[in-house]
Amino acid sequence: MASCRMLLLIIIIISSTIVKGQESSNRNVTLRSSIVANSDSNSTWTSPSGEFAFGFREVSPGAFLLAIWFDQLTDKTLVWSANRDEPVPAGSTVQLSADGALELVDQTGNRVWSSQARPGTVAYAAMLDTGNLVLASNTSAILWQSFDSPTDTLLPTQVLNRQSVLYSSFSATNFSRGKFKFTLQADGNLVLVTRSYPSDENVNTYWSSDTVQTGFQLIFNNSGNINLIRQNGTILRPLFNIGSLAGQFHQRLVLEHDGVLRHYVYPKSADSSPAWSVRNFEPSNICRAIREDAMGGGPCGFNSYCSITVDGRSSCHCPSGYYPRGGFSGCAPEFVQHRCDHQQAQDAQSFTFNEMSGVNWPFKDYAIFRDVGEAWCRQSCLSDCLCALVIYSNRVCFMKPQPFSNGREESGKALIKVRMNNTLTSNPGTTASGRESSSTTLTITLSVLLGCAGLLFLLSSFFFVFYLKRTKSMMVKRSHVRPAGVSMISSFSFKEVQEAANGFNEELGRGACSIVDRGTLKNDGKVVAVKKLNKILEQADDEFKAEVSSISRTNHKNLVQLLGYCDEGQNRILVYEFMTNGSLATFLFQKSPRPSWYTRVQIAFAIARGICYLHEDCSVPIIHCDIKPQNVLLDETFAPKIADFGLAKLLKADQTRTITGIRGTKGYVAPEWFRNMPITVKVDVYSFGIMLLELMCCRRSYEPDVEDEGEAVLADWAYDCYQQGALDLLVVGDEEARSDMKTLEIYVKTAIWCIQEDPTLRPHMNIVMHMLQGSMQVPTPPDPTAFIH
Ligand SMILES: *[C@@H]1O[C@H](CO)[C@@H](O)[C@H](O)[C@H]1NC(C)=O
Ligand SMILES: *[C@@H]1O[C@H](CO)[C@@H](O)[C@H](O)[C@H]1NC(C)=O
Ligand SMILES: *[C@@H]1O[C@H](CO)[C@@H](O)[C@H](O)[C@H]1NC(C)=O
Ligand SMILES: *[C@@H]1O[C@H](CO)[C@@H](O)[C@H](O)[C@H]1NC(C)=O
Ligand SMILES: *[C@@H]1O[C@H](CO)[C@@H](O)[C@H](O)[C@H]1NC(C)=O
Ligand SMILES: *[C@@H]1O[C@H](CO)[C@@H](O)[C@H](O)[C@H]1NC(C)=O
Ligand SMILES: *[C@@H]1O[C@H](CO)[C@@H](O)[C@H](O)[C@H]1NC(C)=O
Repeated sequence: MASCRMLLLIIIIISSTIVKGQESSNRNVTLRSSIVANSDSNSTWTSPSGEFAFGFREVSPGAFLLAIWFDQLTDKTLVWSANRDEPVPAGSTVQLSADGALELVDQTGNRVWSSQARPGTVAYAAMLDTGNLVLASNTSAILWQSFDSPTDTLLPTQVLNRQSVLYSSFSATNFSRGKFKFTLQADGNLVLVTRSYPSDENVNTYWSSDTVQTGFQLIFNNSGNINLIRQNGTILRPLFNIGSLAGQFHQRLVLEHDGVLRHYVYPKSADSSPAWSVRNFEPSNICRAIREDAMGGGPCGFNSYCSITVDGRSSCHCPSGYYPRGGFSGCAPEFVQHRCDHQQAQDAQSFTFNEMSGVNWPFKDYAIFRDVGEAWCRQSCLSDCLCALVIYSNRVCFMKPQPFSNGREESGKALIKVRMNNTLTSNPGTTASGRESSSTTLTITLSVLLGCAGLLFLLSSFFFVFYLKRTKSMMVKRSHVRPAGVSMISSFSFKEVQEAANGFNEELGRGACSIVDRGTLKNDGKVVAVKKLNKILEQADDEFKAEVSSISRTNHKNLVQLLGYCDEGQNRILVYEFMTNGSLATFLFQKSPRPSWYTRVQIAFAIARGICYLHEDCSVPIIHCDIKPQNVLLDETFAPKIADFGLAKLLKADQTRTITGIRGTKGYVAPEWFRNMPITVKVDVYSFGIMLLELMCCRRSYEPDVEDEGEAVLADWAYDCYQQGALDLLVVGDEEARSDMKTLEIYVKTAIWCIQEDPTLRPHMNIVMHMLQGSMQVPTPPDPTAFIH
């Protein structure tokens, strides 16, 4: 089987080479041909179909790049350039010299760039329809190709070999090399990494395929699949994928100036609105992925902060009182900083704070004070000349020196120390535009990420609670410490739990590996749900502590809150807040009355928000592994809260999913569980998609007793209805839903994206949220079952 596949691959590679050879013979550029850079000249070498052109592009007045671009698209998207760091003036020339080298010479005759062809005699050059510029011999053997020296873009049929590097552009309009690299390292690991701009030294690897030794080539094939392959040609790790739709789109993979690797598609059909749209990207949250806590200032540079807008795009801002220095240099104060000489006490009178909520700089504290009031915290920062910023949260005061790094949106209160009567209005570095943007950046974009309430503050403060026990005194701690395995929640003795649960005689429900009882806490009379785990992995003691601590650190309104735990002898018990309205399954599948459409829509969105939080906002992403209506509970206002997250790792492998419940049906279980494929956050996306359909249609994903056999499996039926343009059939008898077909269509289309059998096709949860709330258009989903692995 495997060797078959390899054979196939070889055949494909060979046949595609032949195809390329044929293409190249269509329009040859002969030796001694040349193009001159000139604003008025449109002289280019185009590919046979006219899709790509090679020539000069004026990127700023009088500055030209020798480049390749999509010539038929309105924005003439640049995909390659020879001299990105060194634009040339008008009058410069590129020539295919008599001895077969491609040479870029500026108007004074200096050679700026030249192709380094393999030995052999170049007979002609050709711009191919793939976007590849080749120099070939008289037998059409390729001696040099632009595909071998990519800039920031890969195109279909292009291959990234070990040690090849894509460099992001400096900015959206300046194509010189920026701060981020995408490279298949010599060791086989495919990584996204920041460099210490402008030098080339790596600083922080913020995404990696984890394929040391095994990664051999990244292949962007003609079908739009981007796969990392092994040396023997088998697929090691699919990166991005657009499945059967490849023929309908122009495509490119580009490492953009904000450090995000994006797979873009552009519909070829004339009737669709022509624009590039993002099909997939990594990392899902660039502001959090980049963590330059040892060196460097984070994604936006020192003293700045990063916020995520729609679609994983980041933007950089300066806190008030600071101005942007341009490029990757972050921000600098607009005022004279606190003096640290003998006058510091006097100077202390000159400072005040600009308050910002929802922003944090989580690393590099020089002092942390626990259990102090805000007034005290403010005063100590004002009187300490080293202090430039304090974060005050939960009675903990984090003091930071200049420069602060890795700023990002996160709940909490930041107090930025600024000079009151700023005498530095004529700071030479402060340009008018700089000031303007620093004031506009004060507006904090509300992002989907704001849910993670004070995570890092909590973490550090709990650390102190744990280690210092009841020490009331203030304490100075050098360097930041963020240990795992410590929690804010109560630890109960078994006796306490037994008393609370009244001897465990009010059972609320039971699952394959747990029993849930109702209970009442002794101290505050709070009603709780007590979950006894009965088939925990043996030797899982450390694991239990680690998981409990990871669960306890979550804090989101759409997650059931863990209040405490008991870990005594054989007993592993979790104590949760009690949800008065039971499970979503009971609510949704009750015979009558049908839950209102509006409530269902709200519930669907809120669940998406909860899962998104688990995947993206926790210090360690939590894969739920068992998203289903039984695991979503409703509080007194029918707001949904996801239960049982974080338990997947604790339960024996074969219990993390109840296969029995889904035998012969599609269930909520993503296909990769059965296919020996890696389990990623996308398994939850799949389960969410199924549940979303159930919410829309108010029925179970599998109903063997329906009259029409074609309706038994909801996922299949929904796709059929969608394809036939008959979504109303899904909500027969539901007048509320039928009068809101637009929402129904958005939700069903999103669900179909979520239940793609190919996990790489499924969107990340933050994209799902954008789709559901209409801030992003939902593209036409392919047939979920089209994936053949
Ligand atoms: C390719 O290599 C992988 C890992 O070394 C191995 O599991 C697989 O069987 C190989 N496939 C073929 C076709 O040789
Ligand atoms: C391009 O050059 C190759 C090799 O010399 C030749 O076989 C082919 O016919 C040429 N194509 C055209 C259109 O001139
Ligand atoms: C270049 O193209 C523009 C628009 O396509 C056209 O108006 C102009 O005349 C062309 N110039 C030359 C020198 O061909
Ligand atoms: C190709 O070029 C080589 C010399 O580089 C020459 O010997 C050969 O005859 C040429 N072949 C053709 C088909 O022109
Ligand atoms: C692009 O940015 C680099 C680095 O800051 C700068 O040197 C160069 O002049 C810029 N190029 C243009 C065309 O603005
Ligand atoms: C591209 O790769 C996929 C596997 O991800 C394979 O199924 C498909 O046949 C390949 N297409 C081409 C044109 O090589
Ligand atoms: C700041 O300036 C105002 C008037 O412009 C003045 O009243 C005040 O005393 C000044 N404060 C300091 C700390 O210099």
